Amino acid sequence: MVGRHALLLGSTGLIGGHVLARLLKSDAYRSVTLIGRRHPDVGHDKLTTVTCDLTSLSEYPKAFCVDDVFCCLGTTIRAAGSRSAFYQVDHDYCVSAADMARQAKAKRFLMVSALNAKPSSKVSYYARVKGEAERDVVAVGLPSVTLMQPSLLEGERDELRFGEEIGQAAMTLMKPFTAWSKADWLSIPADVVADAMVGAALLPPSQAVERIRYRGMVALSDKMRSGQ
Ligand SMILES: NC(=O)c1ccc[n+]([C@@H]2O[C@H](COP(=O)([O-])OP(=O)(O)OC[C@H]3O[C@@H](n4cnc5c(N)ncnc54)[C@H](OP(=O)(O)O)[C@@H]3O)[C@@H](O)[C@H]2O)c1
Repeated sequence: MVGRHALLLGSTGLIGGHVLARLLKSDAYRSVTLIGRRHPDVGHDKLTTVTCDLTSLSEYPKAFCVDDVFCCLGTTIRAAGSRSAFYQVDHDYCVSAADMARQAKAKRFLMVSALNAKPSSKVSYYARVKGEAERDVVAVGLPSVTLMQPSLLEGERDELRFGEEIGQAAMTLMKPFTAWSKADWLSIPADVVADAMVGAALLPPSQAVERIRYRGMVALSDKMRSGQ
């Protein structure tokens, strides 16, 4: 039986939930493994779950024996409780997942980062952490790393994120005047990012490390949705 095997981290999140739905629907994937401290309430023949604290990822090498690893982890300083707890999720867990993927010889590692990721950022701690995560994931030495770089995400959440809601409202007002430009800073629906991530995994990588922004994500998502 042909078909790819996927591992997904962050399946309970906004983007991760859409990635999961897309992977389960796709005929290209034969199995989907979720690893996390909890899992969405979804049942499917293709699905396997591994429940663990992500500090102990190295105890689960078999979970990483897949073709494609999708990393959709992330938190906020407020939810995590401190800068160091935020760093642990948005940097450490992502880098250790990349390292496990390399050891297991996974073909692709795809991660959601952010448009402003920059390890040298002096103005934004968030941008610095995202930049350091990108830098250190790339340094692991995987054969193929794909970094999705969305600006603000659009989508429904259970939890209230005041800053994001204000940003989304402002973007919605501005969109009619800016959509023609397809600029990288435009907000993007989470399901478009997810479709693009799965779409990217199914194409040969254009280079060992690729960064995909607004226009690239919209194009990949359109391609996935039209079944090309
Ligand atoms: N929000 C935006 O506008 C925006 C913009 C650009 C980039 N991004 C980035 O996009 C990525 C995905 O964002 P999202 O909004 O889809 O994320 P999300 O909805 O907050 O989901 C994050 C995922 O990470 C997991 N996670 C968080 N803390 C964890 C912990 N301590 N241990 C284990 N798992 C943990 C969550 O699992 P639990 O359910 O177990 O908590 C969840 O599955 C993030 O890296 C984010 O920084 C977001």
